Amino acid sequence: MKTIILDETKPENILKAGEILKNGGLVAIPTETVYGLAANALDPNAVKSIFSAKGRPNDNPLIVHISDFSELSALVTEIPENAVRLADAFWPGPLTIILPKSDIVPSTTSGGLNTVAVRFPSNKTALNIIKAAQVPLAAPSANLSGKPSPTTFGHVYNDLFGKVDAIIKGKDCNVGLESTVISLVGGEAKLLRPGGITRQQLEAVLGFVEVDSAVISPLKKNKPISSPGMKYKHYSPKANITIIDSSPYDFIDFVNDHGKCHALCFEEDVSYLNVPCVTFGKRYDSETQANQLFSALHKLDEKDAKTVFARIPSKNGVGLAVYNRLVRASGFKIINPKNSYIIGLTGPSGSGKTTVCKTLETLGCHIIDCDKISKSPDVYDKNCISQLQKTFGNDIVKNGILDRRKLGEIAFSSPENTQKLNEITHPRILSKVLETIKKAQSSGEKFIILDAPTLFEAKLDDKCSRIITVIADEKLRIKRIMARDNLSIENVKKRFSAQKSDSFYISKSDHIINCNDDIDLIKRFSPIINGLSEKLSP
Ligand code: TXA
Ligand code: MG
Repeated sequence: MKTIILDETKPENILKAGEILKNGGLVAIPTETVYGLAANALDPNAVKSIFSAKGRPNDNPLIVHISDFSELSALVTEIPENAVRLADAFWPGPLTIILPKSDIVPSTTSGGLNTVAVRFPSNKTALNIIKAAQVPLAAPSANLSGKPSPTTFGHVYNDLFGKVDAIIKGKDCNVGLESTVISLVGGEAKLLRPGGITRQQLEAVLGFVEVDSAVISPLKKNKPISSPGMKYKHYSPKANITIIDSSPYDFIDFVNDHGKCHALCFEEDVSYLNVPCVTFGKRYDSETQANQLFSALHKLDEKDAKTVFARIPSKNGVGLAVYNRLVRASGFKIINPKNSYIIGLTGPSGSGKTTVCKTLETLGCHIIDCDKISKSPDVYDKNCISQLQKTFGNDIVKNGILDRRKLGEIAFSSPENTQKLNEITHPRILSKVLETIKKAQSSGEKFIILDAPTLFEAKLDDKCSRIITVIADEKLRIKRIMARDNLSIENVKKRFSAQKSDSFYISKSDHIINCNDDIDLIKRFSPIINGLSEKLSP
Protein backbone atom coordinates (compact mmCIF):
# COMPACT_ATOMS: atom_id res chain seq x y z
CA MET A 1 0.00 0.00 0.00
CA LYS A 2 1.18 3.52 -0.73
CA THR A 3 1.55 5.54 2.46
CA ILE A 4 1.70 9.34 2.30
CA ILE A 5 3.41 11.42 4.98
CA LEU A 6 1.50 14.55 6.02
CA ASP A 7 3.21 17.28 8.03
CA GLU A 8 0.85 18.47 10.81
CA THR A 9 1.87 22.11 10.42
CA LYS A 10 0.19 22.44 6.98
CA PRO A 11 -3.59 23.10 7.26
CA GLU A 12 -4.28 21.43 3.90
CA ASN A 13 -2.79 18.20 5.29
CA ILE A 14 -5.35 18.16 8.10
CA LEU A 15 -8.14 18.47 5.53
CA LYS A 16 -6.52 15.74 3.43
CA ALA A 17 -6.39 13.42 6.49
CA GLY A 18 -10.08 14.17 7.18
CA GLU A 19 -10.94 13.31 3.57
CA ILE A 20 -9.08 9.95 3.72
CA LEU A 21 -10.84 9.05 6.98
CA LYS A 22 -14.27 10.03 5.68
CA ASN A 23 -13.69 7.69 2.73
CA GLY A 24 -12.91 4.71 4.96
CA GLY A 25 -9.09 5.02 4.96
CA LEU A 26 -6.48 4.66 7.71
CA VAL A 27 -4.46 7.57 9.10
CA ALA A 28 -1.92 7.44 11.95
CA ILE A 29 -2.31 10.59 14.07
CA PRO A 30 -0.46 12.13 17.01
CA THR A 31 -2.25 12.47 20.37
CA GLU A 32 -0.97 13.70 23.74
CA THR A 33 -0.62 10.09 24.97
CA VAL A 34 0.73 7.97 22.08
CA TYR A 35 0.22 8.01 18.31
CA GLY A 36 -3.08 6.38 17.28
CA LEU A 37 -4.11 4.52 14.12
CA ALA A 38 -7.42 6.15 13.20
CA ALA A 39 -10.43 5.14 11.10
CA ASN A 40 -14.13 6.09 11.02
CA ALA A 41 -15.45 4.45 14.20
CA LEU A 42 -18.95 4.07 12.73
CA ASP A 43 -17.82 2.24 9.56
CA PRO A 44 -17.28 -1.49 10.25
CA ASN A 45 -15.17 -1.97 7.10
CA ALA A 46 -12.84 0.91 7.93
CA VAL A 47 -12.49 -0.44 11.47
CA LYS A 48 -11.72 -3.94 10.15
CA SER A 49 -8.73 -2.56 8.26
CA ILE A 50 -7.30 -1.20 11.56
CA PHE A 51 -7.33 -4.74 12.94
CA SER A 52 -5.60 -6.17 9.88
CA ALA A 53 -2.95 -3.37 9.60
CA LYS A 54 -2.00 -3.88 13.26
CA GLY A 55 -2.42 -7.65 13.36
CA ARG A 56 -4.77 -7.05 16.30
CA PRO A 57 -7.10 -9.79 17.64
CA ASN A 58 -10.73 -9.02 16.68
CA ASP A 59 -12.10 -9.23 20.20
CA ASN A 60 -9.87 -6.40 21.50
CA PRO A 61 -12.15 -3.31 21.39
CA LEU A 62 -11.06 0.13 20.19
CA ILE A 63 -11.28 3.55 21.82
CA VAL A 64 -13.55 6.03 20.05
CA HIS A 65 -12.17 9.60 19.89
CA ILE A 66 -14.39 12.69 19.89
CA SER A 67 -13.60 16.41 19.53
CA ASP A 68 -16.35 17.81 21.77
CA PHE A 69 -18.33 16.61 24.79
CA SER A 70 -21.55 17.01 22.81
CA GLU A 71 -20.47 14.12 20.53
CA LEU A 72 -20.67 11.65 23.45
CA SER A 73 -24.45 11.30 23.66
CA ALA A 74 -24.83 9.69 20.22
CA LEU A 75 -22.34 6.93 21.14
CA VAL A 76 -23.80 5.79 24.49
CA THR A 77 -27.22 4.88 25.91
CA GLU A 78 -26.79 6.98 29.08
CA ILE A 79 -24.43 9.60 30.50
CA PRO A 80 -24.30 9.07 34.27
CA GLU A 81 -23.53 11.95 36.64
CA ASN A 82 -20.04 10.51 37.29
CA ALA A 83 -19.22 10.65 33.57
CA VAL A 84 -20.10 14.34 33.51
CA ARG A 85 -17.93 14.96 36.54
CA LEU A 86 -14.96 13.10 35.02
CA ALA A 87 -15.39 14.92 31.72
CA ASP A 88 -15.51 18.27 33.54
CA ALA A 89 -12.31 17.47 35.40
CA PHE A 90 -10.20 15.69 32.78
CA TRP A 91 -11.53 16.24 29.24
CA PRO A 92 -9.99 17.08 26.90
CA GLY A 93 -7.12 14.89 28.11
CA PRO A 94 -5.69 11.41 28.69
CA LEU A 95 -8.81 9.75 30.13
CA THR A 96 -11.01 7.11 28.45
CA ILE A 97 -14.48 6.42 29.87
CA ILE A 98 -16.35 3.14 29.22
CA LEU A 99 -20.17 3.32 29.04
CA PRO A 100 -23.00 1.18 27.56
CA LYS A 101 -22.87 1.66 23.78
CA SER A 102 -25.62 2.90 21.48
CA ASP A 103 -26.63 1.11 18.28
CA ILE A 104 -24.63 3.39 16.00
CA VAL A 105 -21.36 1.95 17.35
CA PRO A 106 -20.67 -1.20 15.31
CA SER A 107 -19.76 -4.33 17.24
CA THR A 108 -16.53 -4.47 15.18
CA THR A 109 -15.46 -1.29 17.02
CA SER A 110 -16.51 -2.56 20.45
CA GLY A 111 -14.93 -6.00 19.95
CA GLY A 112 -18.36 -7.61 20.32
CA LEU A 113 -19.02 -5.96 23.72
CA ASN A 114 -22.16 -3.95 24.49
CA THR A 115 -20.01 -1.13 25.89
CA VAL A 116 -17.86 1.53 24.25
CA ALA A 117 -14.67 3.31 25.33
CA VAL A 118 -14.70 7.06 24.57
CA ARG A 119 -11.91 9.62 24.76
CA PHE A 120 -11.77 13.37 24.08
CA PRO A 121 -8.04 14.00 23.44
CA SER A 122 -6.34 17.35 24.03
CA ASN A 123 -3.82 17.24 21.17
CA LYS A 124 -4.71 20.05 18.71
CA THR A 125 -3.85 18.08 15.57
CA ALA A 126 -5.93 15.11 16.74
CA LEU A 127 -8.90 17.40 17.45
CA ASN A 128 -8.62 19.16 14.08
CA ILE A 129 -8.47 15.83 12.24
CA ILE A 130 -11.59 14.51 14.06
CA LYS A 131 -13.36 17.76 13.11
CA ALA A 132 -12.19 17.50 9.50
CA ALA A 133 -13.37 13.87 9.27
CA GLN A 134 -16.77 14.83 10.75
CA VAL A 135 -17.05 11.40 12.39
CA PRO A 136 -15.76 9.95 15.67
CA LEU A 137 -12.47 8.11 15.15
CA ALA A 138 -11.62 4.65 16.43
CA ALA A 139 -7.90 4.67 17.23
CA PRO A 140 -5.78 2.09 18.98
CA SER A 141 -2.10 2.83 19.51
CA ALA A 142 -0.33 2.99 16.12
CA ASN A 143 2.01 0.05 16.66
CA LEU A 144 2.01 -3.52 15.40
CA SER A 145 0.08 -5.59 17.92
CA GLY A 146 2.26 -6.71 20.85
CA LYS A 147 5.01 -4.12 20.20
CA PRO A 148 5.69 -1.05 22.38
CA SER A 149 3.32 1.87 21.67
CA PRO A 150 4.69 4.69 19.46
CA THR A 151 5.50 8.05 21.03
CA THR A 152 7.32 9.57 18.04
CA PHE A 153 6.64 9.84 14.30
CA GLY A 154 9.71 7.61 13.74
CA HIS A 155 8.21 4.80 15.82
CA VAL A 156 5.00 4.86 13.74
CA TYR A 157 6.93 5.02 10.48
CA ASN A 158 8.95 1.90 11.40
CA ASP A 159 5.84 -0.15 12.26
CA LEU A 160 3.22 1.05 9.77
CA PHE A 161 4.80 2.56 6.62
CA GLY A 162 3.33 0.67 3.66
CA LYS A 163 0.40 -0.63 5.74
CA VAL A 164 -1.76 2.54 6.07
CA ASP A 165 -2.97 5.39 3.81
CA ALA A 166 -1.24 8.21 5.66
CA ILE A 167 0.94 9.02 8.64
CA ILE A 168 0.76 12.49 10.19
CA LYS A 169 4.21 13.82 11.01
CA GLY A 170 3.68 15.50 14.38
CA LYS A 171 5.66 16.18 17.55
CA ASP A 172 6.69 13.60 20.16
CA CYS A 173 3.83 12.73 22.55
CA ASN A 174 4.09 14.58 25.84
CA VAL A 175 2.42 12.07 28.20
CA GLY A 176 4.17 9.09 26.60
CA LEU A 177 1.81 6.35 27.93
CA GLU A 178 -1.73 5.51 26.79
CA SER A 179 -4.77 7.08 28.44
CA THR A 180 -6.21 5.99 31.78
CA VAL A 181 -9.19 3.70 31.13
CA ILE A 182 -12.05 3.77 33.65
CA SER A 183 -15.31 1.84 33.40
CA LEU A 184 -18.54 3.37 34.73
CA VAL A 185 -20.69 0.49 33.51
CA GLY A 186 -23.18 -0.78 36.12
CA GLY A 187 -22.76 2.27 38.33
CA GLU A 188 -19.36 1.31 39.75
CA ALA A 189 -16.09 3.05 38.90
CA LYS A 190 -13.31 0.61 38.04
CA LEU A 191 -9.83 1.50 36.85
CA LEU A 192 -8.96 -0.88 34.00
CA ARG A 193 -5.75 0.71 32.77
CA PRO A 194 -3.69 3.30 34.67
CA GLY A 195 -2.32 6.24 32.68
CA GLY A 196 -1.62 9.95 32.78
CA ILE A 197 -4.64 10.64 35.02
CA THR A 198 -3.84 8.97 38.34
CA ARG A 199 -6.04 6.95 40.67
CA GLN A 200 -5.66 9.74 43.25
CA GLN A 201 -6.91 12.33 40.72
CA LEU A 202 -9.91 10.12 39.87
CA GLU A 203 -10.68 9.56 43.56
CA ALA A 204 -10.61 13.30 44.20
CA VAL A 205 -13.58 13.51 41.83
CA LEU A 206 -15.41 10.21 42.42
CA GLY A 207 -14.43 8.96 45.88
CA PHE A 208 -13.18 5.36 46.06
CA VAL A 209 -12.14 3.84 42.72
CA GLU A 210 -11.53 0.10 42.52
CA VAL A 211 -8.37 -0.95 40.65
CA ASP A 212 -8.80 -4.07 38.52
CA SER A 213 -6.46 -6.80 39.80
CA ALA A 214 -5.06 -7.28 36.29
CA VAL A 215 -3.43 -3.82 36.52
CA ILE A 216 -0.42 -5.15 38.44
CA SER A 217 -0.83 -8.95 38.51
CA PRO A 218 -1.01 -11.57 35.78
CA LEU A 219 -4.57 -12.66 34.88
CA LYS A 220 -5.84 -15.58 36.92
CA LYS A 221 -7.20 -18.55 34.97
CA ASN A 222 -11.03 -18.78 34.91
CA LYS A 223 -11.44 -15.19 36.16
CA PRO A 224 -13.61 -12.92 33.99
CA ILE A 225 -11.65 -10.29 32.07
CA SER A 226 -12.79 -6.65 32.44
CA SER A 227 -10.75 -5.38 29.53
CA PRO A 228 -9.85 -7.73 26.64
CA GLY A 229 -6.56 -5.85 26.07
CA MET A 230 -5.27 -7.28 29.36
CA LYS A 231 -5.04 -10.83 28.11
CA TYR A 232 -2.65 -10.11 25.24
CA LYS A 233 1.12 -9.79 25.31
CA HIS A 234 1.92 -6.10 25.29
CA TYR A 235 4.54 -3.44 24.93
CA SER A 236 7.27 -6.01 24.25
CA PRO A 237 10.53 -5.22 22.57
CA LYS A 238 12.44 -8.18 21.11
CA ALA A 239 14.63 -8.38 24.20
CA ASN A 240 13.95 -10.55 27.21
CA ILE A 241 13.27 -8.13 30.09
CA THR A 242 13.53 -9.03 33.78
CA ILE A 243 12.61 -6.51 36.47
CA ILE A 244 14.96 -6.45 39.45
CA ASP A 245 13.05 -5.82 42.66
CA SER A 246 15.85 -4.41 44.80
CA SER A 247 17.53 -1.23 45.96
CA PRO A 248 19.44 0.86 43.39
CA TYR A 249 22.65 -0.34 45.05
CA ASP A 250 21.76 -4.04 44.76
CA PHE A 251 20.52 -3.49 41.18
CA ILE A 252 23.92 -2.09 40.20
CA ASP A 253 25.73 -4.98 41.89
CA PHE A 254 23.49 -7.55 40.23
CA VAL A 255 23.85 -6.09 36.73
CA ASN A 256 27.61 -5.53 36.93
CA ASP A 257 28.13 -9.09 38.21
CA HIS A 258 25.96 -10.51 35.44
CA GLY A 259 27.77 -8.65 32.61
CA LYS A 260 26.72 -9.24 28.96
CA CYS A 261 23.32 -7.57 29.24
CA HIS A 262 21.64 -4.17 28.88
CA ALA A 263 20.36 -2.13 31.82
CA LEU A 264 16.98 -0.38 31.55
CA CYS A 265 17.60 2.05 34.36
CA PHE A 266 17.17 5.54 35.79
CA GLU A 267 19.52 8.42 34.93
CA GLU A 268 21.13 8.30 38.39
CA ASP A 269 22.32 4.70 37.85
CA VAL A 270 24.27 5.15 34.61
CA SER A 271 27.64 6.22 36.00
CA TYR A 272 27.79 3.14 38.25
CA LEU A 273 26.99 0.55 35.60
CA ASN A 274 29.55 -1.30 33.46
CA VAL A 275 27.05 -2.49 30.81
CA PRO A 276 25.25 -0.55 28.03
CA CYS A 277 22.38 1.46 29.52
CA VAL A 278 19.05 2.77 28.25
CA THR A 279 17.39 5.18 30.68
CA PHE A 280 13.74 5.93 31.37
CA GLY A 281 13.65 9.07 33.49
CA LYS A 282 14.71 9.74 37.06
CA ARG A 283 14.10 7.64 40.18
CA TYR A 284 11.73 10.03 41.95
CA ASP A 285 10.03 11.44 38.86
CA SER A 286 7.26 9.16 37.58
CA GLU A 287 6.28 11.70 34.89
CA THR A 288 9.68 11.50 33.18
CA GLN A 289 9.53 7.71 33.49
CA ALA A 290 6.10 7.66 31.82
CA ASN A 291 7.32 10.03 29.14
CA GLN A 292 10.40 7.96 28.27
CA LEU A 293 9.50 4.29 28.89
CA PHE A 294 8.22 3.44 25.40
CA SER A 295 11.06 5.32 23.72
CA ALA A 296 13.45 3.34 25.89
CA LEU A 297 11.83 0.04 24.83
CA HIS A 298 12.20 1.10 21.17
CA LYS A 299 15.87 1.98 21.80
CA LEU A 300 16.53 -1.50 23.20
CA ASP A 301 15.33 -2.93 19.89
CA GLU A 302 17.54 -0.52 17.94
CA LYS A 303 20.51 -1.68 20.01
CA ASP A 304 19.51 -5.28 19.36
CA ALA A 305 19.48 -5.96 23.11
CA LYS A 306 18.87 -9.60 24.05
CA THR A 307 18.97 -9.73 27.86
CA VAL A 308 17.71 -6.68 29.74
CA PHE A 309 17.52 -6.03 33.47
CA ALA A 310 15.17 -3.22 34.49
CA ARG A 311 14.88 -1.03 37.59
CA ILE A 312 11.56 -1.32 39.39
CA PRO A 313 9.44 1.87 39.30
CA SER A 314 7.42 3.09 42.28
CA LYS A 315 3.68 2.40 41.99
CA ASN A 316 2.61 5.84 43.23
CA GLY A 317 0.73 8.36 41.09
CA VAL A 318 1.65 8.04 37.40
CA GLY A 319 4.17 5.42 38.60
CA LEU A 320 1.35 2.85 38.65
CA ALA A 321 0.98 3.27 34.87
CA VAL A 322 4.75 2.97 34.35
CA TYR A 323 4.81 -0.18 36.48
CA ASN A 324 1.78 -1.62 34.64
CA ARG A 325 3.47 -1.22 31.20
CA LEU A 326 6.85 -2.46 32.37
CA VAL A 327 5.53 -5.65 34.02
CA ARG A 328 3.69 -6.45 30.79
CA ALA A 329 6.79 -5.71 28.69
CA SER A 330 8.66 -8.17 30.93
CA GLY A 331 5.90 -10.79 30.81
CA PHE A 332 5.65 -10.41 34.63
CA LYS A 333 9.26 -11.59 35.18
CA ILE A 334 10.41 -10.02 38.46
CA ILE A 335 13.26 -11.26 40.64
CA ASN A 336 14.57 -10.22 44.03
CA PRO A 337 18.28 -11.21 43.97
CA LYS A 338 18.84 -10.97 47.72
CA ASN A 339 15.45 -12.51 48.56
CA SER A 340 14.97 -9.78 51.17
CA TYR A 341 13.75 -6.19 51.37
CA ILE A 342 15.60 -3.20 52.75
CA ILE A 343 12.96 -0.66 53.69
CA GLY A 344 13.77 2.95 54.52
CA LEU A 345 11.61 4.45 57.28
CA THR A 346 11.68 8.21 57.49
CA GLY A 347 9.62 11.33 58.11
CA PRO A 348 9.70 14.56 60.10
CA SER A 349 10.42 14.48 63.83
CA GLY A 350 7.58 13.69 66.18
CA SER A 351 5.68 11.80 63.49
CA GLY A 352 5.87 8.50 65.39
CA LYS A 353 8.72 6.56 63.76
CA THR A 354 9.76 4.93 67.04
CA THR A 355 6.25 3.59 67.68
CA VAL A 356 6.08 2.39 64.06
CA CYS A 357 9.41 0.55 64.50
CA LYS A 358 7.99 -1.31 67.50
CA THR A 359 5.01 -2.39 65.39
CA LEU A 360 7.26 -3.47 62.52
CA GLU A 361 9.34 -5.50 64.95
CA THR A 362 6.26 -7.42 66.07
CA LEU A 363 5.56 -8.11 62.38
CA GLY A 364 8.94 -9.83 62.05
CA CYS A 365 11.06 -6.95 60.72
CA HIS A 366 14.65 -6.32 61.77
CA ILE A 367 15.22 -2.67 62.76
CA ILE A 368 18.49 -0.81 62.17
CA ASP A 369 18.61 2.46 64.13
CA CYS A 370 20.66 4.70 61.82
CA ASP A 371 20.55 7.64 64.22
CA LYS A 372 22.24 5.52 66.87
CA ILE A 373 24.89 4.36 64.39
CA SER A 374 25.51 7.97 63.34
CA LYS A 375 26.43 8.88 66.92
CA SER A 376 28.46 5.78 67.69
CA PRO A 377 32.18 5.89 68.57
CA ASP A 378 32.75 3.67 65.49
CA VAL A 379 31.94 6.67 63.31
CA TYR A 380 33.80 9.26 65.41
CA ASP A 381 37.14 7.45 65.41
CA LYS A 382 40.54 9.19 65.70
CA ASN A 383 40.76 9.83 62.00
CA CYS A 384 37.33 11.42 61.88
CA ILE A 385 37.97 13.63 64.90
CA SER A 386 41.22 14.97 63.48
CA GLN A 387 39.44 15.83 60.20
CA LEU A 388 36.70 17.60 62.15
CA GLN A 389 39.33 19.59 64.06
CA LYS A 390 40.97 20.65 60.82
CA THR A 391 37.62 21.93 59.57
CA PHE A 392 36.00 23.38 62.69
CA GLY A 393 38.99 24.23 64.95
CA ASN A 394 40.71 22.51 67.87
CA ASP A 395 38.08 23.71 70.39
CA ILE A 396 35.74 20.89 69.48
CA VAL A 397 37.97 18.53 71.50
CA LYS A 398 38.29 18.95 75.29
CA ASN A 399 40.67 16.80 77.32
CA GLY A 400 41.08 14.47 74.38
CA ILE A 401 37.31 13.90 74.12
CA LEU A 402 35.00 15.20 71.37
CA ASP A 403 32.77 17.99 72.71
CA ARG A 404 29.55 17.18 70.85
CA ARG A 405 27.78 20.29 72.07
CA LYS A 406 30.52 22.55 70.75
CA LEU A 407 30.67 20.66 67.45
CA GLY A 408 26.88 20.98 67.10
CA GLU A 409 27.01 24.72 67.77
CA ILE A 410 29.59 25.35 65.06
CA ALA A 411 28.43 22.78 62.53
CA PHE A 412 24.77 23.75 62.63
CA SER A 413 25.44 27.51 62.64
CA SER A 414 25.21 27.68 58.84
CA PRO A 415 24.13 25.42 55.97
CA GLU A 416 27.74 25.50 54.64
CA ASN A 417 29.10 24.19 57.91
CA THR A 418 26.39 21.54 58.13
CA GLN A 419 27.37 20.38 54.68
CA LYS A 420 31.04 20.21 55.68
CA LEU A 421 30.12 18.10 58.70
CA ASN A 422 28.02 15.79 56.53
CA GLU A 423 30.83 15.40 54.01
CA ILE A 424 33.09 14.12 56.76
CA THR A 425 30.63 11.95 58.66
CA HIS A 426 28.17 10.62 56.07
CA PRO A 427 30.56 8.28 54.22
CA ARG A 428 31.55 6.79 57.57
CA ILE A 429 27.92 6.39 58.67
CA LEU A 430 27.09 4.86 55.33
CA SER A 431 29.78 2.22 55.57
CA LYS A 432 28.73 1.33 59.14
CA VAL A 433 25.10 1.03 58.08
CA LEU A 434 26.13 -1.16 55.14
CA GLU A 435 28.10 -3.43 57.46
CA THR A 436 25.06 -3.74 59.70
CA ILE A 437 22.77 -4.50 56.73
CA LYS A 438 25.15 -7.22 55.47
CA LYS A 439 25.16 -8.83 58.91
CA ALA A 440 21.36 -8.83 59.05
CA GLN A 441 21.13 -10.26 55.53
CA SER A 442 23.58 -13.04 56.26
CA SER A 443 21.66 -14.02 59.36
CA GLY A 444 18.60 -14.49 57.15
CA GLU A 445 16.53 -11.38 57.96
CA LYS A 446 13.89 -10.86 55.23
CA PHE A 447 12.69 -7.35 56.14
CA ILE A 448 15.39 -4.95 57.19
CA ILE A 449 14.14 -1.54 58.27
CA LEU A 450 16.50 1.44 58.09
CA ASP A 451 15.06 3.80 60.68
CA ALA A 452 16.62 7.04 59.40
CA PRO A 453 15.22 10.55 59.93
CA THR A 454 17.76 11.84 57.39
CA LEU A 455 17.43 8.92 54.97
CA PHE A 456 17.68 11.12 51.85
CA GLU A 457 20.30 13.56 53.12
CA ALA A 458 22.57 10.66 54.08
CA LYS A 459 21.91 8.99 50.69
CA LEU A 460 20.70 5.89 52.50
CA ASP A 461 17.74 5.78 50.08
CA ASP A 462 20.16 4.23 47.55
CA LYS A 463 20.28 1.18 49.80
CA CYS A 464 16.48 0.81 50.00
CA SER A 465 14.11 -1.08 47.75
CA ARG A 466 11.05 0.51 49.38
CA ILE A 467 10.57 3.72 51.34
CA ILE A 468 7.93 4.35 53.99
CA THR A 469 7.28 7.86 55.25
CA VAL A 470 5.54 8.44 58.55
CA ILE A 471 3.78 11.78 58.88
CA ALA A 472 1.42 13.23 61.50
CA ASP A 473 -0.54 16.44 62.02
CA GLU A 474 1.78 19.27 63.01
CA LYS A 475 -0.04 20.08 66.28
CA LEU A 476 0.34 16.50 67.40
CA ARG A 477 4.03 16.40 66.46
CA ILE A 478 4.65 19.58 68.48
CA LYS A 479 2.90 18.08 71.49
CA ARG A 480 4.89 14.84 71.22
CA ILE A 481 8.28 16.58 70.98
CA MET A 482 7.53 19.03 73.79
CA ALA A 483 6.80 16.05 76.03
CA ARG A 484 9.64 13.86 74.78
CA ASP A 485 12.50 16.42 74.72
CA ASN A 486 11.17 18.79 77.36
CA LEU A 487 11.22 21.74 74.95
CA SER A 488 9.17 24.93 74.74
CA ILE A 489 6.76 25.35 71.85
CA GLU A 490 9.01 28.06 70.37
CA ASN A 491 12.01 25.75 70.38
CA VAL A 492 10.07 22.93 68.76
CA LYS A 493 8.85 25.30 66.04
CA LYS A 494 12.41 26.54 65.47
CA ARG A 495 13.53 22.95 65.03
CA PHE A 496 10.72 22.33 62.52
CA SER A 497 11.69 25.32 60.42
CA ALA A 498 15.02 23.65 59.59
CA GLN A 499 13.28 20.43 58.50
CA LYS A 500 12.00 19.28 55.14
CA SER A 501 8.28 19.60 54.34
CA ASP A 502 5.89 16.62 54.28
CA SER A 503 5.68 16.87 50.50
CA PHE A 504 9.45 16.40 50.19
CA TYR A 505 9.11 12.99 51.86
CA ILE A 506 5.86 12.06 50.17
CA SER A 507 7.20 12.60 46.65
CA LYS A 508 9.94 10.05 47.28
CA SER A 509 8.02 7.33 49.16
CA ASP A 510 6.24 4.09 48.28
CA HIS A 511 3.96 4.22 51.32
CA ILE A 512 2.83 7.22 53.35
CA ILE A 513 1.41 6.48 56.80
CA ASN A 514 -0.45 9.17 58.68
CA CYS A 515 0.45 8.26 62.26
CA ASN A 516 -2.10 10.14 64.33
CA ASP A 517 -2.97 8.82 67.78
CA ASP A 518 -6.05 6.87 66.70
CA ILE A 519 -4.37 4.84 63.96
CA ASP A 520 -4.25 1.03 64.18
CA LEU A 521 -0.63 0.48 63.21
CA ILE A 522 -0.83 -3.31 62.92
CA LYS A 523 -3.79 -3.02 60.58
CA ARG A 524 -1.95 -0.43 58.48
CA PHE A 525 1.41 -2.21 58.23
CA SER A 526 0.55 -5.90 58.03
CA PRO A 527 -0.83 -5.66 54.44
CA ILE A 528 2.40 -3.93 53.36
CA ILE A 529 4.66 -6.56 54.93
CA ASN A 530 2.40 -9.47 53.88
CA GLY A 531 2.31 -8.12 50.31
CA LEU A 532 6.11 -8.08 50.16
CA SER A 533 6.33 -11.44 51.89
CA GLU A 534 4.29 -13.08 49.12
CA LYS A 535 6.93 -11.97 46.62
CA LEU A 536 9.82 -13.72 48.43
CA SER A 537 10.72 -17.34 48.00
CA PRO A 538 10.34 -19.36 51.20
O1 TXA B 1 -4.12 6.91 24.83
C1 TXA B 1 -4.82 6.07 24.29
O2 TXA B 1 -5.83 5.59 24.82
C2 TXA B 1 -4.42 5.64 22.86
C3 TXA B 1 -4.53 6.85 21.96
C4 TXA B 1 -4.30 6.53 20.52
O3 TXA B 1 -5.77 7.48 22.17
N1 TXA B 1 -5.19 4.53 22.42
C5 TXA B 1 -5.01 3.28 22.92
O4 TXA B 1 -5.80 2.31 22.36
O5 TXA B 1 -4.22 3.02 23.78
P1 TXA B 1 -5.50 0.74 22.50
O6 TXA B 1 -6.43 0.10 21.57
O7 TXA B 1 -4.06 0.47 22.33
O8 TXA B 1 -5.97 0.39 23.95
C6 TXA B 1 -7.35 0.37 24.29
C7 TXA B 1 -7.56 -0.42 25.53
C8 TXA B 1 -7.43 -1.90 25.29
O9 TXA B 1 -6.76 -2.50 26.38
C9 TXA B 1 -8.88 -2.36 25.20
O10 TXA B 1 -9.02 -3.71 25.57
C10 TXA B 1 -9.56 -1.41 26.17
O11 TXA B 1 -8.89 -0.19 25.99
N2 TXA B 1 -10.99 -1.23 25.82
C11 TXA B 1 -11.51 -0.59 24.75
N3 TXA B 1 -12.85 -0.66 24.77
C12 TXA B 1 -13.20 -1.34 25.88
C13 TXA B 1 -14.44 -1.75 26.45
N4 TXA B 1 -15.60 -1.47 25.87
N5 TXA B 1 -14.41 -2.44 27.61
C14 TXA B 1 -13.24 -2.73 28.20
N6 TXA B 1 -12.02 -2.38 27.71
C15 TXA B 1 -12.01 -1.70 26.55
MG1 MG C 1 -2.16 -0.49 22.37
